[in-house]
Amino acid sequence: MVCTVSTPLLIDTDPGNDDAVLIALALASDEFDVIGLTTVAGNETIGNTTRNARSVLELLDRTDVPVAEGCGRPLVDEPNTADVHGPGGLYGAVPEPGVEPIEDHAVRFVLDQVRRYGDELRLLAVGPLTNVALALAIEPELPEMIDGIHVMGGAATTTGNVTPAAEFNFHHDPAAASRVVQDGTPSVVGLDVTDRATVPAGEIEELARGDEPGRSIACWLAYASHDELLAGLDESRDRFSVHDAVVIADLLGDVLTFEDYYLEIDTSGGPSHGSVVCDTRGVTGRDPNATVAVEIDTEEFRSVLFDTLDELV
Ligand code: RIB
Ligand code: CA
Repeated sequence: MVCTVSTPLLIDTDPGNDDAVLIALALASDEFDVIGLTTVAGNETIGNTTRNARSVLELLDRTDVPVAEGCGRPLVDEPNTADVHGPGGLYGAVPEPGVEPIEDHAVRFVLDQVRRYGDELRLLAVGPLTNVALALAIEPELPEMIDGIHVMGGAATTTGNVTPAAEFNFHHDPAAASRVVQDGTPSVVGLDVTDRATVPAGEIEELARGDEPGRSIACWLAYASHDELLAGLDESRDRFSVHDAVVIADLLGDVLTFEDYYLEIDTSGGPSHGSVVCDTRGVTGRDPNATVAVEIDTEEFRSVLFDTLDELV
């Protein structure tokens, strides 16, 4: 067991521009010790998400953080990718990575860190939950062994962003999301709150006028190239929701309000495939299996975001 001053953090991720913002925040904060990144296919292929994770670490001069490559496809469904993250899945002037991923598979790495850090460890999962579901299948006691599993995913009480009913991460691998919800007693931060985690165009454009890494972070915040930023952003564009960053912003500040609910994930293959069935009225009589974010203080989110990024830019 390793004793650390700051909280050990393991991030399972599919970078992805908003993933990259979360990684930057985690590295900028002295409250957390980022002990590793594990990658999963989602926004992009596993090759691209693993390259992007390493490129973000290269840009932020943190190649000391190990990257373990994970699952390249969902447990059951056919893979697809998102189309909002730009060529290769990441905007900004990110360098080619200079450090290879470690030999161990992501799931092996997660299990080793769980046993190494125990109840100090926080696991953030901000892509499809394939790696986390497999780790839970191998080590069912995982949730009791660590401080918690914090997920960005789902739309518990709102509409989806990839189908009318389903959010991207859960829709990409519904079987994995179902396992994590049923076995992982997760904290679930979904579109219910992350849709309102927006950043004003003016603040992004100001960041873009500075030096690196701020310029690339501005591109990640706006899901846009630097040229687009310099040309001026359309204030009305609603693509500024920095979904994944909300998970860590809430660990850094008092950003979210949670309620405990019983959740199921629809894996039926129909029009609501991958959606969250949230028992807000308690009609199932089932005990809650997740704590779900239901409210966000957007101004607090923005101040935590920029106060923390100030450490980097
Ligand atoms: O629906 C938002 C989620 O899908 C985020 O994690 C984003 O990175 C994409 O993976
Ligand atoms: Ca993501």
